[in-house]
Amino acid sequence: MDSSEYIKKRIQSLTEDSDEIRSLSPVTNDFDSWSALKLILHSAAVNMYTTVLENTDYFQDLFYIDALAGSGVSTYGDDDTCFLGSPIIAAKVAQEPFKKMYLIEWDEDKAAALETRLQYIFDNHADALEPEEWEVIQGDANTHLPKVADDISEVREGGFNYYCFIDNQELNVKWDAIDSLTPKPWGDLLINLPTASGIGRNATKRPVPKELNDFYCTDLNEEDLPQSNVRPKMKALYRKCLTQNGRPIQRITNIDANVGSYEYDLLYATRETGGENGYIRVIEYVKEFIEDVHAGDVDAFLDVIHDDQSSFEQYLPNEDVDDEIPDKEAESQTSLADF
Ligand SMILES: C[S@@+](CC[C@H](N)C(=O)[O-])C[C@H]1O[C@@H](n2cnc3c(N)ncnc32)[C@H](O)[C@@H]1O
Repeated sequence: MDSSEYIKKRIQSLTEDSDEIRSLSPVTNDFDSWSALKLILHSAAVNMYTTVLENTDYFQDLFYIDALAGSGVSTYGDDDTCFLGSPIIAAKVAQEPFKKMYLIEWDEDKAAALETRLQYIFDNHADALEPEEWEVIQGDANTHLPKVADDISEVREGGFNYYCFIDNQELNVKWDAIDSLTPKPWGDLLINLPTASGIGRNATKRPVPKELNDFYCTDLNEEDLPQSNVRPKMKALYRKCLTQNGRPIQRITNIDANVGSYEYDLLYATRETGGENGYIRVIEYVKEFIEDVHAGDVDAFLDVIHDDQSSFEQYLPNEDVDDEIPDKEAESQTSLADF
C-alpha cells in the first residue's frame, strides 16, 4: 500500500458508518474540528501496532486500553457531522483482534452508549474485530488503570503487550495512574497533553495547583518554571517523566490552532527496541502530515477530513514510507522482533 493510500484509509476510518453508529444512542461527546487530527494519529498507531507486534513470534497477547474512552461518537459544529470515537476506530483498524479491550469512561450515560455501540458493531460489522473479551468500565481512570494493569499481568505466560490511549481534555489522568502501568506489563502510550488548557493555564500559578502537580512525576514547585512561554518547558518535563518511566522513544505531534488558547500535543511513547524500526517511522510520517494540515486554515483542513482529493494531496509529506507500511498479507514483520 502506498503512503497516500495509507493516510486516506486512516481518515476514512474516522467517519465510516458513523451516522449509523451514532443513531444507536442520543449520547455523544462534543468535539471541535481540530480534535479529529488526534484520531488520525490514533488510527495509524493502532493499525501499525497491531500489524507489527502480531507478526513477531514473541507476542501472544495484545491488549487495548482506552483510559478516557467517551461514548463511541463525537459530534462537532452544527451537530450534523460526527466522527467515530477512539475505541470504535481501534476495533475497526486493528489488523488482528485484541486479546481484551479495556474501555474506561467516567460518565454513566457515555459508558452505556459506548457499550451499546460496540456490541452493535461487533454483531453487525465484520470489519470491526471483536476481541476475545472486552469491557466498558464505568468509573475514574485513575482508580481503574492500576486494576487493569493487574488484570493484564495476572496468569499470563509468554509475551504480552498493550497499547493505551489517554485522551486527556484537561488534567484527567494523573501520573500515579500512568506509573501503575509500568514497568510490567509493557506497553505503548499515546497521550494527549492538554498543553494550553490544563497545563498552560496552571503552570504560572504559585504554588503550582495540586491538580497540575499530580499530573507530573515530580514536584513542580521544586522546578525552575518560567513565568512566560512556559509550554515548551512543561512538555520537556513530561517527556522526562516518561523517559524515567522506561519509555525514552518518543514522538510528539503538535496541534496548534494559532488562537492562543488552543494547543495540544500527542505524545507517542515506547521503550527502547534496539534500533530504528518501521513502526516509529510511520508515526513520524503521519505526524508530518498532521502538522502540515493544522498549519493550513480550518476550511482546508475540513476538506481533507471530508476527503477532498486536491486538498489532501497538497498535505502529503514529500518522502514516502511505503516500505514501512505492512500489507495485511505480508509474510512477516521483523522490525520489532527484538522488542
Ligand atoms: C476527550 S473525551 C474522549 C474522547 C474519546 N477518546 C474519543 O475519541 O471519542 C474524554 C472523555 O473522558 C471522560 N473522563 C473525564 N475524566 C475521566 C476520568 N477521570 N476517568 C474516566 N473518564 C473520564 C469524559 O467523560 C469524556 O467522555
